[in-house]
Amino acid sequence: MSGETGEYRVGSLAAVEAGDTTLATIGDTDVALFLCRGQVVATQGQCPHAQGPINEGDVDGTTLTCPWHGWSFDLETGASGEDENLMLRRYPVRVDGDDIWVTL
Ligand code: FES
Repeated sequence: MSGETGEYRVGSLAAVEAGDTTLATIGDTDVALFLCRGQVVATQGQCPHAQGPINEGDVDGTTLTCPWHGWSFDLETGASGEDENLMLRRYPVRVDGDDIWVTL
């Protein structure tokens, strides 16, 4: 479903709040959703280290830890704790009721 220009509905706030692993696919772009300090954060769907399933990572505060090799990323900035040249791509999010919209 498409909303404003470039904006896509990628999930349900209730599902993210319930802690469900959430991965949406828009065309050939995967988007992972997380709850970070009460805010929904959308990132690229695969870990920038070696394409691991970053949507299955653990969130502690603003730190997301990838399940494959344990690299960490700051959900507020996308910065990697292990490699300053590596960034986790983040997408703008808008929440409208239960609908989560992401701009690609
Ligand atoms: S693939 Fe995520 S830490 Fe290696």
